[in-house]
Amino acid sequence: MPTEIPPLLLAPLAPVTGTTLQQQLYQRIKQGILQGQLAAGAVLPGTRQLASELQVSRNTVLNVWTQLQAEGYLMSDRQGSRVTPLALPAGQVDDDTLTRWPLAKRIDVFQRRPWVDTGALPLRPGIPALNHFPVAAWRRALSQVMSHTPPQLLGYGDPLGDAELRTALAQHLRITRGVRCDARQIVITEGVQQALMLCVTLLSNPGDPGWIEEPGYRGAKAAFRAGELNLIPIPADHQGLAPQPGHWKQAPPRLIYTTPTHQYPTGAVMSAARRLALIAAARQHRAWIIEDDYDGDFHYHGDPIMAMQGMTDNAPVIYLGSFSKTLFPALRIGFMVLPAPLVSRLTPALHQLLRGGNRPEQQALTRFILSGDYRRHLGKMRRLYRQRQELLRSELQRAAGQSLPLLGGDSGLHLVLPLDSHHNDAVIACQLHQAGFAPAALSEFYLAEPVQQGLVMGYGNSSDTQIIAATRQLSRILSWPG
Ligand SMILES: Cc1ncc(COP(=O)(O)O)c(C=O)c1O
Repeated sequence: MPTEIPPLLLAPLAPVTGTTLQQQLYQRIKQGILQGQLAAGAVLPGTRQLASELQVSRNTVLNVWTQLQAEGYLMSDRQGSRVTPLALPAGQVDDDTLTRWPLAKRIDVFQRRPWVDTGALPLRPGIPALNHFPVAAWRRALSQVMSHTPPQLLGYGDPLGDAELRTALAQHLRITRGVRCDARQIVITEGVQQALMLCVTLLSNPGDPGWIEEPGYRGAKAAFRAGELNLIPIPADHQGLAPQPGHWKQAPPRLIYTTPTHQYPTGAVMSAARRLALIAAARQHRAWIIEDDYDGDFHYHGDPIMAMQGMTDNAPVIYLGSFSKTLFPALRIGFMVLPAPLVSRLTPALHQLLRGGNRPEQQALTRFILSGDYRRHLGKMRRLYRQRQELLRSELQRAAGQSLPLLGGDSGLHLVLPLDSHHNDAVIACQLHQAGFAPAALSEFYLAEPVQQGLVMGYGNSSDTQIIAATRQLSRILSWPG
């Protein structure tokens, strides 16, 4: 006996580009159920009957019925198909309601930035020369990996990272950065940022004091905040992090974040005496030092400054590094070097927190390092960045008509131009942004008052023409003579 067909089902189906008749019928019935137009228990027509009413093939209707049954919208037995009784959520929740839904309190401390530069505008700090990246050599390394890839390389890898990459990296770090390590201590991460989040997760508890350089790296603050650490700003002077005895007494840290090779953003190099004192005090207070060596590969005067981690055996230092500056940020490959005695304690947690992805990229990177392409690229970039820095420096001094107290420059990819306190660096940075340049405002790197006004100017990804244009623009904004 034919069933009376609910009118909703009888509306003709017409071909629409991008969706099949089957998908349309499926959506129509599913939405009808979810919106209450097809009541719980309502009997649906037989597939033959509906197919003939809608002038579609019976298979189309059968497939829709099978899918709706599989998802639990329809129940079928020998008597036919009925709508499953579902407790539909009462009332409508509009966008506004959801924006007021409870969220983690810890996100309230993240402030909105005036603008977000997702690109790589000139003067943006921390971006390497993207159009000087040796695409052909990289493509070769990747395609060699892919052409020899056994299928298992496409599955999950060792959560700690590709074994060959860890071995090549340990060797590279020992020679170029003086890091004391072997491959077992290395964990490959998605850049320094993930390594920071892991340090927080593995080494601290919410509420623990976490020391942050003042001024200091926003990414480290974000990681500490996400772990609900109690952020303590510790002044950094011309010799880097400068904790006073009172800091150790009043807020003995669990974690200390520092950039000893090239303080971010001021560029100070932490002296040997400071490094040794920090290690000694951290040992005494059972604190962990997180050494972020984000751009130590680019050093322009004399020999490179070696890592603090390598100064003494068993320093309580987690050494972090990244290929974001030496290769390109979107690669998202970085690493941490754990103190040897921590490896076995942390491995079970790391095995469950990480998944061992990016395997083709990790293998390509290994080839890139072992073939010498990486060392050659670093050499070329070092020369390029030195020239770019010299140009930025000389253009700024020329436009200002005087020698400027620029900070940094021994290494890295940026210079800091300190400004007098009557300037508002955030406003100046916004004005430059409108003109297509993206320096950072120095004041934004502070946690507490007083802040130093200034501009953090990246030269890594800025061509000569862009450096000259940016300096002209800044000169106009600051009413410099040149
Ligand atoms: C101080 C500092 N650390 C680390 C990084 C690199 O972070 P990631 O490896 O997550 O790209 C940057 C990049 O700008 C940085 O400025």
